Amino acid sequence: MSKVAVVYWSQSGNTEAMAEAVASAAGATATEVSTFSPASVADFDAFAFGCPAMGAEELDGDFEEVWNECVPNFGGKPVALFGSYDWGTGEWMETWRDSATDAGVNVIDCVIANLEPDDEAIEKLTALGKRLAE
Ligand SMILES: Cc1cc2nc3c(=O)[nH]c(=O)nc-3n(C[C@H](O)[C@H](O)[C@H](O)COP(=O)(O)O)c2cc1C
Repeated sequence: MSKVAVVYWSQSGNTEAMAEAVASAAGATATEVSTFSPASVADFDAFAFGCPAMGAEELDGDFEEVWNECVPNFGGKPVALFGSYDWGTGEWMETWRDSATDAGVNVIDCVIANLEPDDEAIEKLTALGKRLAE
């Protein structure tokens, strides 16, 4: 079974709820991004990184700083992206996925939820957690 890191940033709890769903299915612990060391990427086999749409369809700045430090360390290991949004169309996730892919990250899936994750989103996140842990 793979050792999975679930790392997230959340202001009002929606992306945190998504992280908890992935982590519980993956047998992992959801880790708030400020307590995650990019050097510890080497200790995990698979990853789920979560951040809501902030700014104008952007990642949170503190999250992005840690994410950027992790990118060169992923190698070909599988990475899933997730996050919550409100009034947009998910543009921030498309931009994030494209820039990650361009940087050579092996993005295996992206899950977005409008505000609090509903049952359908939780199902997707649970399936994702199981897949990462395989
Ligand atoms: C400062 C700020 C900027 C935001 N920018 C966007 C945005 O560009 N597009 C969007 O769809 N939602 C935007 N939102 C809404 C959040 O993405 C949404 O409330 C999300 O559920 C927050 O997730 P969280 O509970 O994990 O913090 C923004 C919210 C805040 C507070």
